[in-house]
Amino acid sequence: MDHDDHAALIRGGVEGAGPRWLELGAGSGAFTLALADVLGAGADILATDRDPRPIAGLEARVQRRFPEARVRTRAFDFSDAIPYGPFDGVLAANSLHFVRDRDLTLRSIRSSLVRGGRLVVVEYDADRGNPWVPHPFSFQSWRREATEAGFDRPRLLHRVPSRFLGAIYGAVAERPDG
Ligand SMILES: C[S@@+](CC[C@H](N)C(=O)[O-])C[C@H]1O[C@@H](n2cnc3c(N)ncnc32)[C@H](O)[C@@H]1O
Repeated sequence: MDHDDHAALIRGGVEGAGPRWLELGAGSGAFTLALADVLGAGADILATDRDPRPIAGLEARVQRRFPEARVRTRAFDFSDAIPYGPFDGVLAANSLHFVRDRDLTLRSIRSSLVRGGRLVVVEYDADRGNPWVPHPFSFQSWRREATEAGFDRPRLLHRVPSRFLGAIYGAVAERPDG
């Protein structure tokens, strides 16, 4: 996958949202770059990971490519707590599959969003894991999990075939407006 695939996986869930986003499990920042690209001027991204090493220097790397984006980084474990933004959106790309029971995490994410705010996930479209992707969830499973955790309108954004676990999808759901 290249930058255009990363952007395509999240674009439909990011466009039209406000600029303030939290990224969970940013790693070396492939999707931070995609988020900065899709959000455009005014992007304000807090990119986080429990491992401080991959996110070190990420602000500078994103800013070199997308000078109008503001990126900050912070190291923490999202299964302990999610910072209260409120954020216009939360992006979790290939990171929620490290959590076996995601309900509490999804509810905390929902509370960190503005009303109508978006949760965008990128995940392998599979329900059986392996040592590298321990607890993946297909789009069908994710639609159920997101609804049970109080999100509205879960929908598929884009799907890319993958030799590893078949396919990767991007999906979005919203914090209810009322
Ligand atoms: C497979 S990498 C994905 C990186 C990037 N989002 C991507 O898709 O290219 C997963 C990242 O999530 C982070 N991660 C896993 N569990 C986490 C947790 N509970 N809290 C914070 N970060 C976590 C890992 O440290 C790792 O950098």
